[in-house]
Amino acid sequence: MSAVDPSGVVAIVPAAGSGLRLGAGVPKAFVELGGVPMVVRTVDGLLESGVVGRVVVVVPVSEVTAAASLFPGRPVTVVPGGADRTASVAAGLRAVTSDVDVVLVHDAARPLTPPDVVRRVVAAVRSGLPAVIPVLPVTDTVKQVDADGVVTATVDRSALRAVQTPQGFRRSDLVRAYAGVSGALTDDAGLVEALGDSVHTVAGDPVAFKVTTAWDLRIAELILAGASVPEHPPISAEER
Ligand code: CTP
Ligand code: MG
Repeated sequence: MSAVDPSGVVAIVPAAGSGLRLGAGVPKAFVELGGVPMVVRTVDGLLESGVVGRVVVVVPVSEVTAAASLFPGRPVTVVPGGADRTASVAAGLRAVTSDVDVVLVHDAARPLTPPDVVRRVVAAVRSGLPAVIPVLPVTDTVKQVDADGVVTATVDRSALRAVQTPQGFRRSDLVRAYAGVSGALTDDAGLVEALGDSVHTVAGDPVAFKVTTAWDLRIAELILAGASVPEHPPISAEER
């Protein structure tokens, strides 16, 4: 494989959430997984990919000083975040210089994301696509319900995908998308969709799951400890 120049690629890592659902008593990104804060694992996974030149980590205002000491020797900038994820990503985006071509947005809460997923997203954006997201097929049957929990429809899951991060964008498109933002979103690509631009998909990876609850954290610990988790079968082009 030819050498990849990571210099034009910056990853924004929103890590400014409080982690209410995890309930660890400290902001989720700073909770340790196998003795290392989750956000450090996430940043190292991005840098290990070899296709990311700089990481902007967005943390709660109270954590800026402490967080800055977590990344010795790494090309990392720490900035304070906002009240919701959208405001935090916007703050990160303001710290990205205009000479950068590609911006990734990657949840701090996905500490086990394989570097291959990062490489796939960057390669797809580098190939000329404006917005790229890693996805997984939905394997459970999906139902729509009303306010009482009564089923109103069975959704055709073959056309559905669960979306992960890192999501990758041409910097100019993401800046344009965030310029018009109103309200909080859980997904950056949604903003680009709203502009009418196409969003493309690449294969995600189950190991890139988001740590949301204490159960997820325990699963992450077990995977890290080398519990016997079988390798996930490759995801076919049809399932993307
Ligand atoms: N995030 C952020 N700024 C916020 C809220 C969330 O940077 N104001 C980040 C989180 O740190 C996390 C990612 O967005 O890396 C995904 O959010 P989520 O999993 O919901 O994390 P939290 O908001 O911390 O968790 P919870 O919703 O349970 O409080
Ligand atoms: Mg949240």
